[in-house]
Amino acid sequence: MSESLMEFHGVSKNFDGVAALNNFSGAARGGQVLGLIGPNGAGKTTLFDVVTGFTRPDRGSVLLRGQRLLGRPPYKIARLGVARTFQDLRLIRGLSVLENVLLAFPNQPGEGLWNVFFRGKPVSMRENDINRAAISLLNDAGLAEKADDPADALSYGQQKLLSLVCCLATDAEVLLLDEPVAGIAPVMIDRILSVIRGFPTHGRSVILIEHNLEAVMQVCDRVIFMDAGQKISEGTPTEVRNDPKVIQAYIG
Ligand SMILES: Nc1ncnc2c1ncn2[C@@H]1O[C@H](COP(=O)(O)OP(=O)(O)OP(=O)(O)O)[C@@H](O)[C@H]1O
Ligand SMILES: [Mg+2]
Repeated sequence: MSESLMEFHGVSKNFDGVAALNNFSGAARGGQVLGLIGPNGAGKTTLFDVVTGFTRPDRGSVLLRGQRLLGRPPYKIARLGVARTFQDLRLIRGLSVLENVLLAFPNQPGEGLWNVFFRGKPVSMRENDINRAAISLLNDAGLAEKADDPADALSYGQQKLLSLVCCLATDAEVLLLDEPVAGIAPVMIDRILSVIRGFPTHGRSVILIEHNLEAVMQVCDRVIFMDAGQKISEGTPTEVRNDPKVIQAYIG
């Protein structure tokens, strides 16, 4: 499956006269990892903020399977199937590793008032299922033995890994990852990249912001290079890396 899953049409956003996004258009295909690269201040995170409803753009539209996302509050966009990680990690530090993952699961038992008063067997069974699924995700990521540790006792790299596990725990179809391997030791980078590479087989599509070009080359099916809020280049990782405009921006 590789038709357009998410489309950006002419998205613009100014902050006090600075064009963070300038008529940005592009698309992410289903079942793929799309890399979003570009220098500091290119507008990459702003694009994620627009998609997830954190920032309202001045112009343009974003479509998920043809459905307009802009103008909806973040929680509704999340329910439509868009999850994200943040450049600055936003785990719940007072909770355990496992509890962070449990919180990310949709349709939590006990959410409805009915469940508060009538906690019968079906609810606790569902709780067990979620618990098992959470442990299994932590196991796949190599974090199972840390399940009961407080989230803030993990190393920085392990916390980044945990934020990916939390993304997987949601049933979101599109995962927006903002610099998942920035500032991480090489061994942990490999673990994180292999988790990301597995996302499409879990039925998830990914848009990945990353400065580490080596990582981008390893995991992305396609890459968009942006600068000053605009799309400058697009193609396979090799095509984009060899584009003179991209080389110029990275070296010159
Ligand atoms: N909330 C805001 N208020 C004012 N200016 C902002 C805001 N958010 C972003 N900007 C500006 O918009 C531009 C794009 O920022 P953005 O964070 O999207 O870049 P980026 O590509 O993610 O950069 P980096 O690689 O450094 O994370 C920058 O000039 C930034 O200073
Ligand atoms: Mg950013």
